[in-house]
Amino acid sequence: MSPYAHIAGWGMYVPARVLTNQDLERMVDTSDEWIRARTGIVERRIAGEKESTSTMAVEAARRALARANLSPRQLDAIIVATISPDYLTPATACLVRAALGADRAAAFDVSAGCSGFLYALSLAQMGIAAGEWRCVLIIGAETLSRFVNWEDRSTCVLFGDGAGALVLVASEEPGGVLACVLGADGSGAELLSIPAGGSRMPAAPETLSQRAHTIQMDGRAVYRFATHILPEAVEQVMRKAGLPLSAVDMIVPHQANMRIIEAARKKLGLPEEAFFVNLYRYGNTSAASIPIALCEIADHELINDGSIVVLVGFGAGLTWGAAAVRWGVPLPQPARPWYQRAFYLGRAVLHRLPAFLRKLLYRLWQWLPSRGGEE
Ligand code: COA
Repeated sequence: MSPYAHIAGWGMYVPARVLTNQDLERMVDTSDEWIRARTGIVERRIAGEKESTSTMAVEAARRALARANLSPRQLDAIIVATISPDYLTPATACLVRAALGADRAAAFDVSAGCSGFLYALSLAQMGIAAGEWRCVLIIGAETLSRFVNWEDRSTCVLFGDGAGALVLVASEEPGGVLACVLGADGSGAELLSIPAGGSRMPAAPETLSQRAHTIQMDGRAVYRFATHILPEAVEQVMRKAGLPLSAVDMIVPHQANMRIIEAARKKLGLPEEAFFVNLYRYGNTSAASIPIALCEIADHELINDGSIVVLVGFGAGLTWGAAAVRWGVPLPQPARPWYQRAFYLGRAVLHRLPAFLRKLLYRLWQWLPSRGGEE
């Protein structure tokens, strides 16, 4: 019997700075009325100077690990879903790994637009079901404010920054992630992209002056795609989980636009309270939007043990994904006895010792000839 992937912890982080629709009125030709009516967004968070995707991801991860009562050393893998990584390479997940001290974990990023978190969740579930991983940290984190053209009113009003994380653990107890569906249609790649900065259009003075390093979007085409794919993905994942649509207790959609969510709700014939919406406070935080929403639902106890929760998203690629989850937090992991903790600490120190000695010898080697040369 394959192990089940249960959600054992969750955590979110949003930057302190709030950018309201009124603030945007002073920056571009827009109005609070237009933004609310067309999107539902009222305000969004903007990362501070010292913040980046990895720093927000680490904050969210620490909170998720504390909630799960697990130490970073127990993690087998860290997956970060993002389209606004700290660097093109290395992966943001590696920076998170180092900051947490997750000495045993594999670490990599996934890039699947706003569906990225669902891709990460599906990978984690597969790794656990295969018996390869027992404990996986997945994070959706974005600093989209650094990739927005603040002079383009059709995009700058939509996006925000933040991070959300989940810790998944293997358990023999049935439940947790019941089913996932993922999809992509690359023929829509041009509809939502950041064209420059990659190998096709490397950074150059012209790409900077053309603002080609910022988000370019055909809003209407993305809107049409989203309203069609969202209800379809919900139906697909429930079929795969072997459950009727009427079994859904809560749908957590990607928080892009209130009108998209409303259109999907009507197509599915579900009541308003079946959809969780918090986009009016955070805007579209891309891969972070679903985990942030899930954290708020869990913190406010809007779901109980046994609730069926569907996470569903769409985004650049074009991509989409959905996951059906039976909520039920496994009992907190018992704290390890002192001798086990001492063992893991000793092993971590031994693990780092050769690299430390190598560095020390190298420094000595550099220092000796220069001292000799000075004399
Ligand atoms: N303030 C005021 N007017 C604006 C504006 C803004 N911020 N942005 C665009 N407009 C104007 C347009 O210039 C256009 O004016 P025109 O009719 O004189 O040409 C008018 O509003 C209507 O533009 P349109 O693009 O048709 O609006 P819309 O109803 O489609 O709403 C979006 C625009 C972007 C809100 C909507 O298309 C959308 O949400 N799309 C999906 C985007 C998305 O979710 N992307 C992320 C996917 S993960």
